[in-house]
Amino acid sequence: MTSSHNAIRHSIDRILNSKVITDPFPHLEIDNIFPESFYKVLLARVPSHKMFLPEKEGVFRMNIVSDPCGGMDQTTIFESRAQEKEKTFWDNFRYSYFGDEFITALLNKFETFPEEDVYMCGRLIVDRLNAGFGPHTDRYDKVISLIFHIPSVPINERGFETMLFKPKDPNFEDTGEHYTYDDFDEVKRISYHPNKLFCFKVMSNTGGIGSWHSYHQDTDLDRLTIKAFIQRDIDPEEVRRVVDETKHRSKRWRDEKNLDSY
Ligand SMILES: [Fe+2]
Repeated sequence: MTSSHNAIRHSIDRILNSKVITDPFPHLEIDNIFPESFYKVLLARVPSHKMFLPEKEGVFRMNIVSDPCGGMDQTTIFESRAQEKEKTFWDNFRYSYFGDEFITALLNKFETFPEEDVYMCGRLIVDRLNAGFGPHTDRYDKVISLIFHIPSVPINERGFETMLFKPKDPNFEDTGEHYTYDDFDEVKRISYHPNKLFCFKVMSNTGGIGSWHSYHQDTDLDRLTIKAFIQRDIDPEEVRRVVDETKHRSKRWRDEKNLDSY
């Protein structure tokens, strides 16, 4: 078996050798982000989905490193009833995949160097029916967002894909909300394949470029991912205040009359 220590070398090499795609905003799509043998163990160490905590409609999570700005129950896998061998695996995982070397590789790749200190948090997520948001750019304290796709087999459900957009108006003002699809053109879809990392630089429509993305799950199958974020180390209370002002609009895609076309 490949240890986390060796796996991180493979993953950083995969990042260094990948190309930043700039349309519609800077992102990476990397297959085989983990060594194959490590990936098999990772899948075997995901705790029972029954133990995941409800986060919001259709979304269940198991924290690996808590988000101080999350404002919810921030219990981690290490305080849960997960098995000891599962805790041991994810403990090693967080030291490698939430550590300075991995963070630095990603910051360098996206050539983004925040003035503040940064840190990384993340969680295992199971999405089910009605999980999702309308187009949004991600919380303003986030620098890089990562979604590790970790199904055991490829799943070609369209509702499992992440959609990337451009606003129809290049000067569209981003106020941190989750918008309906009316004001956006879909540019690309990210497929949900095993052992794949999709990550992007969070941009709030600066210079006409914003990290506009969305997903809307329309089946009750489990969509398993690790969602992780490199974040600026700013006052969590301030972040929560801003989120409280906007999150009530997070499901605005329900207003859409013709969701099938997305
Ligand atoms: Fe997002």
